[in-house]
Amino acid sequence: MENTTQKATNVTWHDGEVSRLERQTLLGQLGATVWFTGLSGAGKSTIAVAVEKELHKRGHLVYRLDGDNIRMGINRNLGFSAEDRTENIRRIGEIAKLFVDAGLIVLSSFISPYRSDRQLVRKLHEDAGMNFIECFVDVPLAEAELRDPKGLYKKARAGEIRNFTGIDDPYEAPESPELVLPSHQLSLEEEVDAVLKKLAQCGCLPE
Ligand code: ADX
Repeated sequence: MENTTQKATNVTWHDGEVSRLERQTLLGQLGATVWFTGLSGAGKSTIAVAVEKELHKRGHLVYRLDGDNIRMGINRNLGFSAEDRTENIRRIGEIAKLFVDAGLIVLSSFISPYRSDRQLVRKLHEDAGMNFIECFVDVPLAEAELRDPKGLYKKARAGEIRNFTGIDDPYEAPESPELVLPSHQLSLEEEVDAVLKKLAQCGCLPE
Protein backbone atom coordinates (compact mmCIF):
# COMPACT_ATOMS: atom_id res chain seq x y z
CA MET A 1 0.00 0.00 0.00
CA GLU A 2 2.80 2.30 0.99
CA ASN A 3 4.13 2.12 -2.57
CA THR A 4 0.90 3.38 -4.11
CA THR A 5 0.59 6.55 -2.07
CA GLN A 6 1.86 9.82 -3.49
CA LYS A 7 5.17 10.63 -1.83
CA ALA A 8 6.36 13.75 -3.63
CA THR A 9 4.58 16.95 -2.78
CA ASN A 10 4.45 20.12 -4.88
CA VAL A 11 4.13 18.25 -8.15
CA THR A 12 1.68 19.35 -10.84
CA TRP A 13 0.44 17.46 -13.91
CA HIS A 14 1.66 19.16 -17.10
CA ASP A 15 -0.57 18.67 -20.14
CA GLY A 16 0.83 18.53 -23.67
CA GLU A 17 -0.72 19.78 -26.86
CA VAL A 18 -1.01 16.44 -28.61
CA SER A 19 -3.83 14.28 -27.26
CA ARG A 20 -4.15 10.54 -26.92
CA LEU A 21 -6.89 10.69 -29.51
CA GLU A 22 -4.54 12.40 -31.97
CA ARG A 23 -1.90 9.73 -31.42
CA GLN A 24 -4.55 7.01 -31.89
CA THR A 25 -5.66 8.68 -35.11
CA LEU A 26 -2.06 8.81 -36.33
CA LEU A 27 -1.62 5.10 -35.61
CA GLY A 28 -5.09 4.05 -36.77
CA GLN A 29 -5.72 1.99 -33.66
CA LEU A 30 -6.99 2.30 -30.12
CA GLY A 31 -4.46 1.36 -27.50
CA ALA A 32 -5.26 -1.48 -25.09
CA THR A 33 -3.63 -3.73 -22.56
CA VAL A 34 -4.12 -7.46 -22.86
CA TRP A 35 -3.09 -8.78 -19.47
CA PHE A 36 -2.18 -12.47 -19.52
CA THR A 37 -2.19 -14.03 -16.07
CA GLY A 38 -1.61 -17.64 -15.03
CA LEU A 39 0.88 -20.10 -13.60
CA SER A 40 4.48 -20.24 -14.75
CA GLY A 41 4.49 -22.54 -17.77
CA ALA A 42 0.82 -21.88 -18.59
CA GLY A 43 1.73 -20.42 -21.97
CA LYS A 44 1.32 -16.68 -21.36
CA SER A 45 4.50 -15.64 -23.16
CA THR A 46 3.97 -18.11 -26.01
CA ILE A 47 0.51 -16.69 -26.71
CA ALA A 48 1.75 -13.08 -26.39
CA VAL A 49 4.58 -13.72 -28.88
CA ALA A 50 2.15 -15.23 -31.40
CA VAL A 51 -0.40 -12.42 -30.97
CA GLU A 52 2.37 -9.83 -31.32
CA LYS A 53 3.54 -11.42 -34.57
CA GLU A 54 0.04 -11.49 -36.05
CA LEU A 55 -0.84 -7.92 -35.01
CA HIS A 56 2.46 -6.61 -36.35
CA LYS A 57 1.84 -8.42 -39.63
CA ARG A 58 -1.53 -6.65 -39.85
CA GLY A 59 0.15 -3.27 -39.39
CA HIS A 60 -0.43 -2.60 -35.71
CA LEU A 61 2.00 -1.10 -33.26
CA VAL A 62 2.21 -3.66 -30.47
CA TYR A 63 4.63 -4.23 -27.61
CA ARG A 64 5.20 -7.09 -25.21
CA LEU A 65 5.98 -6.77 -21.52
CA ASP A 66 7.22 -10.11 -20.20
CA GLY A 67 7.87 -11.20 -16.61
CA ASP A 68 11.32 -12.68 -17.01
CA ASN A 69 12.52 -9.84 -19.30
CA ILE A 70 11.26 -7.02 -17.10
CA ARG A 71 12.83 -8.68 -14.08
CA MET A 72 16.21 -8.36 -15.83
CA GLY A 73 15.74 -4.61 -16.34
CA ILE A 74 13.55 -2.07 -14.60
CA ASN A 75 12.47 -4.61 -11.95
CA ARG A 76 15.85 -6.24 -11.37
CA ASN A 77 15.70 -5.12 -7.73
CA LEU A 78 12.56 -7.19 -7.04
CA GLY A 79 12.25 -10.80 -5.90
CA PHE A 80 9.25 -13.02 -5.29
CA SER A 81 7.98 -12.05 -1.85
CA ALA A 82 4.34 -10.93 -1.80
CA GLU A 83 5.49 -7.29 -1.44
CA ASP A 84 7.91 -7.55 -4.35
CA ARG A 85 5.35 -9.23 -6.59
CA THR A 86 2.90 -6.45 -5.77
CA GLU A 87 5.48 -3.79 -6.63
CA ASN A 88 6.41 -5.71 -9.79
CA ILE A 89 2.81 -5.65 -10.97
CA ARG A 90 2.23 -2.05 -9.91
CA ARG A 91 5.20 -0.85 -11.98
CA ILE A 92 4.17 -2.95 -14.98
CA GLY A 93 0.64 -1.61 -14.68
CA GLU A 94 1.96 1.95 -14.83
CA ILE A 95 4.24 1.14 -17.76
CA ALA A 96 1.37 -0.53 -19.62
CA LYS A 97 -0.78 2.52 -19.00
CA LEU A 98 1.91 4.83 -20.40
CA PHE A 99 2.22 2.68 -23.52
CA VAL A 100 -1.56 2.62 -24.02
CA ASP A 101 -1.58 6.39 -23.63
CA ALA A 102 1.07 6.46 -26.35
CA GLY A 103 -1.38 4.49 -28.53
CA LEU A 104 0.17 1.01 -28.39
CA ILE A 105 -1.42 -2.37 -27.92
CA VAL A 106 0.36 -3.87 -24.92
CA LEU A 107 0.64 -7.61 -24.35
CA SER A 108 1.65 -8.21 -20.80
CA SER A 109 2.66 -11.65 -19.47
CA PHE A 110 3.15 -11.91 -15.73
CA ILE A 111 2.01 -14.57 -13.31
CA SER A 112 0.42 -11.69 -11.34
CA PRO A 113 -0.86 -14.13 -8.72
CA TYR A 114 -2.78 -11.69 -6.55
CA ARG A 115 -6.30 -10.59 -7.46
CA SER A 116 -5.88 -7.25 -5.68
CA ASP A 117 -2.75 -6.41 -7.73
CA ARG A 118 -4.53 -7.17 -11.00
CA GLN A 119 -7.55 -5.20 -9.82
CA LEU A 120 -5.30 -2.20 -9.23
CA VAL A 121 -3.92 -2.38 -12.77
CA ARG A 122 -7.44 -2.72 -14.17
CA LYS A 123 -8.53 0.35 -12.23
CA LEU A 124 -5.52 2.35 -13.45
CA HIS A 125 -6.61 1.67 -17.01
CA GLU A 126 -10.36 2.01 -16.58
CA ASP A 127 -10.10 5.26 -14.63
CA ALA A 128 -8.11 6.64 -17.57
CA GLY A 129 -10.69 5.42 -20.11
CA MET A 130 -8.41 2.69 -21.44
CA ASN A 131 -9.24 -0.84 -22.53
CA PHE A 132 -8.05 -3.58 -20.20
CA ILE A 133 -8.53 -7.18 -21.24
CA GLU A 134 -7.71 -9.68 -18.53
CA CYS A 135 -6.89 -13.00 -20.10
CA PHE A 136 -6.61 -16.02 -17.80
CA VAL A 137 -4.28 -18.62 -19.29
CA ASP A 138 -5.79 -21.48 -17.39
CA VAL A 139 -3.98 -24.78 -17.07
CA PRO A 140 -4.08 -27.26 -14.20
CA LEU A 141 -0.95 -27.14 -12.05
CA ALA A 142 -0.21 -30.77 -13.02
CA GLU A 143 -0.06 -29.74 -16.70
CA ALA A 144 2.23 -26.74 -16.04
CA GLU A 145 4.43 -28.99 -13.95
CA LEU A 146 4.55 -31.61 -16.68
CA ARG A 147 5.68 -28.98 -19.21
CA ASP A 148 8.16 -27.41 -16.79
CA PRO A 149 9.93 -25.56 -19.65
CA LYS A 150 12.55 -24.00 -17.38
CA GLY A 151 12.90 -26.90 -14.95
CA LEU A 152 11.73 -24.64 -12.12
CA TYR A 153 8.87 -26.82 -10.82
CA LYS A 154 11.36 -29.67 -10.37
CA LYS A 155 13.62 -27.37 -8.37
CA ALA A 156 10.69 -26.05 -6.33
CA ARG A 157 9.54 -29.61 -5.50
CA ALA A 158 13.10 -30.40 -4.44
CA GLY A 159 13.04 -27.38 -2.12
CA GLU A 160 15.72 -25.57 -4.13
CA ILE A 161 13.38 -22.64 -4.91
CA ARG A 162 11.16 -21.19 -2.20
CA ASN A 163 7.88 -19.32 -2.70
CA PHE A 164 7.28 -20.83 -6.10
CA THR A 165 3.80 -20.03 -7.42
CA GLY A 166 1.54 -23.09 -7.30
CA ILE A 167 3.94 -25.06 -5.08
CA ASP A 168 4.44 -23.09 -1.87
CA ASP A 169 3.05 -19.74 -2.97
CA PRO A 170 -0.54 -18.89 -3.93
CA TYR A 171 -2.15 -18.20 -7.30
CA GLU A 172 -5.53 -16.48 -7.13
CA ALA A 173 -7.46 -17.21 -10.31
CA PRO A 174 -9.45 -14.33 -11.85
CA GLU A 175 -13.15 -14.32 -10.99
CA SER A 176 -14.44 -12.59 -14.10
CA PRO A 177 -11.71 -12.23 -16.72
CA GLU A 178 -12.63 -10.97 -20.20
CA LEU A 179 -11.10 -14.12 -21.67
CA VAL A 180 -10.19 -17.62 -20.47
CA LEU A 181 -7.74 -19.67 -22.52
CA PRO A 182 -7.29 -23.28 -21.37
CA SER A 183 -3.99 -23.68 -23.18
CA HIS A 184 -3.92 -27.47 -22.71
CA GLN A 185 -7.15 -27.74 -24.73
CA LEU A 186 -6.66 -25.10 -27.44
CA SER A 187 -4.21 -24.76 -30.28
CA LEU A 188 -2.00 -21.68 -30.39
CA GLU A 189 -3.93 -20.55 -33.48
CA GLU A 190 -7.24 -20.76 -31.61
CA GLU A 191 -5.76 -18.77 -28.74
CA VAL A 192 -4.49 -16.03 -31.06
CA ASP A 193 -7.89 -15.86 -32.77
CA ALA A 194 -9.67 -15.52 -29.44
CA VAL A 195 -7.44 -12.61 -28.37
CA LEU A 196 -7.83 -10.83 -31.73
CA LYS A 197 -11.60 -11.29 -31.57
CA LYS A 198 -11.67 -9.74 -28.11
CA LEU A 199 -9.57 -6.78 -29.28
CA ALA A 200 -11.94 -6.27 -32.22
CA GLN A 201 -14.97 -6.40 -29.89
CA CYS A 202 -13.40 -3.64 -27.80
CA GLY A 203 -13.04 -1.52 -30.91
CA CYS A 204 -9.22 -1.66 -30.71
CA LEU A 205 -8.91 -3.18 -34.18
CA PRO A 206 -10.88 -2.30 -37.27
CA GLU A 207 -13.62 -4.87 -38.05
S1 ADX B 1 4.94 -12.28 -10.65
O1 ADX B 1 4.42 -13.25 -9.69
O2 ADX B 1 5.63 -11.17 -9.99
O3 ADX B 1 3.92 -11.81 -11.61
P1 ADX B 1 6.66 -12.74 -12.92
O4 ADX B 1 5.69 -13.08 -13.98
O5 ADX B 1 7.23 -11.35 -12.90
O6 ADX B 1 6.02 -13.11 -11.48
O7 ADX B 1 7.89 -13.73 -12.98
C1 ADX B 1 7.65 -15.11 -13.04
C2 ADX B 1 8.82 -15.86 -13.67
O8 ADX B 1 9.95 -15.80 -12.81
C3 ADX B 1 8.49 -17.32 -13.83
O9 ADX B 1 7.99 -17.60 -15.12
C4 ADX B 1 9.81 -18.02 -13.59
O10 ADX B 1 10.53 -18.12 -14.80
C5 ADX B 1 10.55 -17.08 -12.69
N1 ADX B 1 10.55 -17.42 -11.24
C6 ADX B 1 11.67 -17.50 -10.48
N2 ADX B 1 11.35 -17.73 -9.20
C7 ADX B 1 10.00 -17.78 -9.12
C8 ADX B 1 9.07 -17.99 -8.04
N3 ADX B 1 9.48 -18.16 -6.78
N4 ADX B 1 7.74 -18.01 -8.33
C9 ADX B 1 7.33 -17.83 -9.59
N5 ADX B 1 8.15 -17.63 -10.64
C10 ADX B 1 9.49 -17.60 -10.42
